Amino acid sequence: MSTVPLLPMNDGRYIPQIGFGVWQVPDDIVTEATLTAFDAGYRHVDTAAVYGNERGVGEAIARSGLDRDDLFITTKVWNDRQGYEQTMRAFETSLGLLGIDEVDLYLVHWPTPARDLYLDTWKALIDIHATGRARSIGVSNFHEAHLVRIIDETGVIPVLNQIELHPWLPQTHLREVDAKFGILTEGWSPLGSGQLIDDPVIGSIASKHGCTAAQVMVRWQIQLGNVVLPKSVTPERIRQNIDVFGFSLDAEDMAQIAGLESGKRTGPNPDEFNEL
Ligand code: A2P
Repeated sequence: MSTVPLLPMNDGRYIPQIGFGVWQVPDDIVTEATLTAFDAGYRHVDTAAVYGNERGVGEAIARSGLDRDDLFITTKVWNDRQGYEQTMRAFETSLGLLGIDEVDLYLVHWPTPARDLYLDTWKALIDIHATGRARSIGVSNFHEAHLVRIIDETGVIPVLNQIELHPWLPQTHLREVDAKFGILTEGWSPLGSGQLIDDPVIGSIASKHGCTAAQVMVRWQIQLGNVVLPKSVTPERIRQNIDVFGFSLDAEDMAQIAGLESGKRTGPNPDEFNEL
């Protein structure tokens, strides 16, 4: 079973560098998938209110028999619950569905800049953190201007910024901005929503190391220093995606992957995404 490194966060706590992503996993499937992930060695699960599967993740936590303090559970406030009071209530709902007393990490899911509520939402997270029921707080899909605004206005720096990140979209600038503030970068859709699995350059690097394309892409983010969230409902793939500590990518591999940058997103641009 793989042992995943713990990365230090700017609030003194630690986060497992690989998390199990459950976006688009239905509530009735997520429990078994998450239990498979726990068996494979994952201890970090990344859910969100909008995924509609917090209840099923909570069931996996309860059934796992694992010590709660050995798990790292993240959830996020959805766009239609932004604003101070709404966020406070959304947090209660998420805790109730998860069936736990505290989350390890609570995130603002998107800045939704046209709604201009992310600052008030961040203030709610700061107050939730003060109660101890969110052990750490952070953001997702924030660009530089959004980060600068919440930090300037509150003085509280998110522990991490979860963003779309894969070889087409390595997010070099945003990673530098995050690093400048002491914010960890966490990559969602590390396989380009699965679309990069058949990329020939990734394939040749995988052949060289006797591993799979998915393992190359997860390993690449490990070596960049990111937290990474591969998603799968397939037991063999769940196991494969965490089994990335038996090989290293060399400088040539890293340069080849850097050459795949195209700016292509598989999800929305945070500057333009305001959906509820
Ligand atoms: P599935 O969940 O059916 O196993 P991303 O993490 O970039 O969003 O990619 C998720 C997509 O990639 C899902 O469609 C998932 O399929 C697929 N996937 C996850 N792990 C692997 C893997 N090791 N090999 C091939 N496809 C994978």
